[in-house]
Amino acid sequence: MKKILNFPKNFLWGSATSSHQVEGNNTHNDWWKAEQAKELKFKSGKACDHYNRYEQDFDLIKSLNQNAHRFSIEWARIEPEKGKFDKKEIEHYRKVLLALKKRKIKTMVTLWHFTNPIWFEKIGGWSNKESADCFERYVKIIVEKLGYLVDFWVTINEPHVYIRGGYMAGNWPPFKNNPIKAINVFNNFVKAHKVSYKTIHNKYPKAKVSISKAVSHTEPARKQCILEKLIALLIHYFYNHLFLKKIENELDYIGINYYTRSRIIFYPPFKKNLDKKISDIGWEIYPQAIYHLLKYLSKFEKPIYITENGLADAQDKHRKNFIKDHLFYIHKAIEEGVDVQGYFHWSLMDNFEWALGFSPKFGLIEIDYKTMKRKPRPSANYYAKICKNNYLIK
Ligand code: BGC
Repeated sequence: MKKILNFPKNFLWGSATSSHQVEGNNTHNDWWKAEQAKELKFKSGKACDHYNRYEQDFDLIKSLNQNAHRFSIEWARIEPEKGKFDKKEIEHYRKVLLALKKRKIKTMVTLWHFTNPIWFEKIGGWSNKESADCFERYVKIIVEKLGYLVDFWVTINEPHVYIRGGYMAGNWPPFKNNPIKAINVFNNFVKAHKVSYKTIHNKYPKAKVSISKAVSHTEPARKQCILEKLIALLIHYFYNHLFLKKIENELDYIGINYYTRSRIIFYPPFKKNLDKKISDIGWEIYPQAIYHLLKYLSKFEKPIYITENGLADAQDKHRKNFIKDHLFYIHKAIEEGVDVQGYFHWSLMDNFEWALGFSPKFGLIEIDYKTMKRKPRPSANYYAKICKNNYLIK
């Protein structure tokens, strides 16, 4: 028998994007520079031209009944040269925020989503001990000029994912493979979050500030294998726990990004997922894990927002059930007392998927990159019903 699963009153229903992935022409950042130098295989170019089409995109958000939106401000646009802040770009983001407010859509602003100004990269980026201070200067400007329009703040997106790509695997800018630098970057992110938290709260004592933490449910591939159990626990500690623990006193809520789980084996490649149901880029679809992660995160005793959750699915074959099943497990956690207050699907629209270029399609809305036409996929309409009703039928 079908059941109606009600979500809490004032639940946030939204979707998320990031500046470099959707805006286009982010000519002052390090990804752009690496793209031009062919250090990366794909170029972001005009991306979704969201920089010029945000009004149209926000109309779509509204028509899809979403009441919140997460997006990022591009630091390199705001501060293209060290210490020089571009008034025109600040004005641009004011208009973007006002366009959301006008439509009564709550705003969640990410201050840093993987890309850096070129000048910042030149001085050593996040491995430089001054990095947190540089970041804070930029945050201060945003708080002063735009803070009155921001409902939720995300200081840093997925510190571990960036460290893995940029400082361990070396396949993302700045293409390093250096464990010492990786540790410095980790510590500088902690510092940057803490100082930004203070800066925001000095001006807005009631502000809601967090990070977006990528979390993965780690488990041994073979339950009886003690070694795999141990590795899974260690990865859980370093990947899911440590960063949040370090900033626990500077968190008004917890933002998490969940995509897939990790089943650990003790020989390379160290991960062995059951590839029964996978997305277009091979990520296992495993909704149960979000329940376990929420139960673990409830120990921090803060409200939780899912700031990203989604899949690459060009044919829209799995997205509807993906949304339904993840929301089912989120609801189960809520019923058991976990304080989840919002869900942002990744992504509002197809976009530039970093080193993989434009081929993975994460969008609720399909983009025709030739004409820049937007077309909501059937799953977007399914999600729109949930957003409107504030309940899920399962
Ligand atoms: C990132 C997004 C990315 C998504 C899908 C997250 O790691 O925050 O920028 O597009 O996952 O890979």
